[in-house]
Amino acid sequence: MSVKKITVVGAGHVGATCSQLIALKELAREVILVDIAEGIPQGKGLDQWESAPIEGFDTRVYGANDYERSHDSDIFIVTAGVARKPGMSRDDLLKINAGVIRSVSEEIKRVAPDAIVIMVTNPLDVMAQVALETTGFPRERVIGMAGVLDTARYRSFIALELNVSVEDIQALVLGGHGDTMVPLASYTSVSGIPLTQLLDQERIDALVERTRKGGGEIVSYLKTGSAYYAPAAAAVQMTEAIVKDKRRILPCAAWLQGEYGMRDLYLGVPCLLGEGGLLKVIEVELNDEERAALDKSAEHVRSTVAALKALEG
Ligand code: APR
Repeated sequence: MSVKKITVVGAGHVGATCSQLIALKELAREVILVDIAEGIPQGKGLDQWESAPIEGFDTRVYGANDYERSHDSDIFIVTAGVARKPGMSRDDLLKINAGVIRSVSEEIKRVAPDAIVIMVTNPLDVMAQVALETTGFPRERVIGMAGVLDTARYRSFIALELNVSVEDIQALVLGGHGDTMVPLASYTSVSGIPLTQLLDQERIDALVERTRKGGGEIVSYLKTGSAYYAPAAAAVQMTEAIVKDKRRILPCAAWLQGEYGMRDLYLGVPCLLGEGGLLKVIEVELNDEERAALDKSAEHVRSTVAALKALEG
């Protein structure tokens, strides 16, 4: 696929970091930041473009308050919404963000009916479903960013603990984003060495717990906002896999259609990403404990969807 345009909806912390990374990596000819806040996307877009002569990229960065320039965008990364504040759970954001995502999805459908949507706005698994339903796109073209971030956090903590390169750490995190994610200890290795040979169970459990609460840890420091460097890097890694047709296997939120014995819900699972978006959901063997944790995670997503339907009457 020769990618000409990527639109990032929401020019806040996550969105602006996404557009900067896309430009630095030259993943498209144009990246467009769209936000309802007047002047913000234009200002950030121009500022990023003015870094191009220094950084040496030719991806044009634009900002807009509407979708006119986004016609026929190949990919939309959706970060629009309200970020989590201290003391606010992801689910508190539910109703406000669902309204935002519905209106954004209508616009995407209107200006770029063949686009691929990468959902970042939380609660992620549910917002992806709102986008899927509103756009009417197939599941191949509406994917949620969750597992790449959770896995990156887990890998970064393991690297610190062992004092080894992050590059050598392979891990897989399934399930819903955040508190109900399911790190698979049996699929975690350091240059092929099972993690269980390098760390005792107590240390592994502590790293898993820190990963589960990784989002909250950043919120407690920032106080007025939530994480954005790692979330943006994660969304851009998914984008790169699609743009370059790399056929990477990355943990993403996918609309399950029978995989893992589940249907009609978004859940974090290993996904093959390449040209066209989601090419395949990969099913891996789970032990009883992991299976139970995945079921619990699915239950949490289902109850959040039900809560949203109830809130919206
Ligand atoms: N259309 C476009 N942009 C919108 C809309 C809309 N309908 N509604 C809100 N926005 C914009 C806001 O104006 C703001 O600039 O979305 C942006 C959100 O940016 P931040 O508040 O900085 O939030 P951020 O930290 O980027 O997080 C965005 O990503 O990781 C998730 O939980 C996080 O859901 C949150 C999202």
